[in-house]
Amino acid sequence: MFWASRSSWDLEPDERAVARSSVLYSLVHGLPAGHGLPHRSSIRLRKSLWIYGSHVQYTGPAFGDATAGCGAALAKGLSSAEARGCAWVLLGERGERMGEAKNPEQWGAVDQFFVDRLVAQDVALEEALKTSHAAGLPLIHVAPNQGKMLQLLAKLQGARTILEIGTLGGYSTIWLARALPEGGRLVTLEAEPKHAEVARTNLARAGLSEVVELRLGPALETLPALAAEGAAPFDFIFIDADKPNNPGYFEWTLKLARVGSLIIIDNVVRDGKVADGASQDLGVQGSRRAIELMAAEPRVTATAIQTVGSKGYDGFAMAIVTS
Ligand SMILES: C[S@@+](CC[C@H](N)C(=O)[O-])C[C@H]1O[C@@H](n2cnc3c(N)ncnc32)[C@H](O)[C@@H]1O
Repeated sequence: MFWASRSSWDLEPDERAVARSSVLYSLVHGLPAGHGLPHRSSIRLRKSLWIYGSHVQYTGPAFGDATAGCGAALAKGLSSAEARGCAWVLLGERGERMGEAKNPEQWGAVDQFFVDRLVAQDVALEEALKTSHAAGLPLIHVAPNQGKMLQLLAKLQGARTILEIGTLGGYSTIWLARALPEGGRLVTLEAEPKHAEVARTNLARAGLSEVVELRLGPALETLPALAAEGAAPFDFIFIDADKPNNPGYFEWTLKLARVGSLIIIDNVVRDGKVADGASQDLGVQGSRRAIELMAAEPRVTATAIQTVGSKGYDGFAMAIVTS
């Protein structure tokens, strides 16, 4: 079989032709906005997304609910073990590569090595992902080792109050809420009612309904409401929603922070595009602007880190409020 037998993923032009004519060729035309494909904002310009690898058995005709890279294999019901080692390539109208994972087998294997040894996931975390996938939520949650890193940072911070922008199914919320001491609280903001409903179920299963408050609505509306209610300050803030609004989120979180608060913005590298000042991608522009705001803001000291892993090539920015 074409891609079940591949262990390397360099595609030659004639292989593209084979794939195009085969049932494995997968159109992504018409995908609803907001699904986690790379270059999400311009997905309508793209022709196809292929997923293949030595362990991937996906043979369906189309990725109606495809999400970023190998996540689509998971969306089709494969276990993470089956999907391990898969790769993706996104082709443009003329068959040219638009985005690709450079060495995803190795990144995935290394992440798996770390997760197997360092990141114990209990039933609540595993069920949170399963429930989210079953409900058709996009597979854009943090990786387990990233969730654990957020938890360790929140503990290091001694956070008693956490603000999260972008709940999805509550996976990162569970990691973060478990960093809180007795009496701590977490507020998480989500715009999509369906995501909020799934998250509430997942948080209840994790025993966190009393600790976590989920606020439904566009974050640029719920953030001012939080400020008006005097809900601040938050010791730890995780920004992980729609990337074009990252500048606004950063500005609002500064208002909701205190001296010493830690602010993390996820997914700022955007497959390396963050360095491209000419990019028309609104997510890239939002991430660039947020970094520039951090740089210009005298009240914070900040850095940003590139990462590779099971989630591809991305990274995060972090800032501490100093005055
Ligand atoms: C990347 S996902 C969050 C993933 C989650 N933090 C995790 O790792 O498990 C982004 C979420 O932000 C939500 N979102 C998008 N635009 C939003 C907005 N304007 N206000 C609040 N939430 C928004 C999306 O519906 C989605 O659930």
